[in-house]
Amino acid sequence: MYDVYRIREDFPVLKKVIYLDSAATSQKPLPVVKAMDEYFTEYCGPYGRGAHRLSKETTEKYEDAREAVASFLGVPPGNTIFTRNTTESINMVAYGLDWRRGDHVITSVMEHHSNLLPWMRLRKRGVEVTVVDADDYGVVHVKSIEDAITERTRLIAIGHVSNFFGSIQDVRAIARLAKRHGIKLLVDAAQSLGEMSYDFEASDCDFICASGHKGLLGPQGTGILYVKDAEGLDPVFAGGGTVSNVTLEGFSFDEAPSRFEYGTPNIPGVIGLGRAVKYVEALGVDNIESHLKGLAKYCAKRLSEIPQVEVYGPEERGSLVSFNLKGLNPHDVAMILDEARKICVRSGAMCAQTALARLGISGAVRASFGCYTTKEEVEALASSIEMMAKTLT
Ligand SMILES: Cc1ncc(COP(=O)(O)O)c(C=O)c1O
Repeated sequence: MYDVYRIREDFPVLKKVIYLDSAATSQKPLPVVKAMDEYFTEYCGPYGRGAHRLSKETTEKYEDAREAVASFLGVPPGNTIFTRNTTESINMVAYGLDWRRGDHVITSVMEHHSNLLPWMRLRKRGVEVTVVDADDYGVVHVKSIEDAITERTRLIAIGHVSNFFGSIQDVRAIARLAKRHGIKLLVDAAQSLGEMSYDFEASDCDFICASGHKGLLGPQGTGILYVKDAEGLDPVFAGGGTVSNVTLEGFSFDEAPSRFEYGTPNIPGVIGLGRAVKYVEALGVDNIESHLKGLAKYCAKRLSEIPQVEVYGPEERGSLVSFNLKGLNPHDVAMILDEARKICVRSGAMCAQTALARLGISGAVRASFGCYTTKEEVEALASSIEMMAKTLT
């Protein structure tokens, strides 16, 4: 049985605050902190280089983490690359593909800036970028992607779950569409990995970009890039760790994943991420998903009952609820929640300005949940907003 109160014992910081900002970055369970601590205190060494014992142990643990993440995704470890965050993963694809003038990319108005700006920048290189619209609930209809396809479309880049609306895109149908047209598919899974069961490999994604520090409960400074055809992507960075042979005349890149992992990586972070993925697996992604969806539904319902509150997004949503309280700036709402009840929420444009602009707004409040969030905490938010609404009338 899913016992959220038991789970919370692994997250001591939750005794201090009501943390409703997990979509930005999640809290970390003690086993993850311990795994990172052990790296520093017991075998701290360099990764991948050196014949000495600390280097060997470090490399072994780092590769164990890769195995854990790859098996979690259901993809081969050789195609699983560690990065710093989703933003880096997406940029590595945008700058690593061999673009020709007139090539075409489709993305959507719902995207986080990290899945929009890297494509928009390609316009300078003669790549055309179509940003398809969504409906008022943040759902991107597959038909609008289909209608945007041209003979030159090479890539569809879509976020699985919107970080503002919480809307869930039909990645399976988009993958089928992309495959039918011989187009590559990149999925930004920043808001879904670890929180929604989904078989990315079976749905045939070419690139999966995700953060280690959100639903996977890994440390900040970790991200994941899965590349189906590693040879088809050029490494953006060259240097130590990426090459197999160097002479004065030139060099050859190593095989994946090494060719993409430049310099000294975030070793403690990756080891922590490997442990975090096992923690999430032990809880069960299905269990986490139904817990989170239950909380989001309850939160949206409670907030919608307050006449001065406008709740955004569809009924079927991921683990977050964005809203505005009429008459109060979202940042003020967030500050009052923090000062009055130590409730931590996100406020502002959430790096999704085009998604907010879709509704004619420039800011909102977002409450987002983790595997450790309780219904009581959501109720504390709702009752605080209710009180604020009353004082405004
Ligand atoms: C949908 C989405 N994509 C990308 C990102 C960027 O993630 P990171 O900060 O790990 O680069 C976020 C972060 O909130 C996000 O929600």
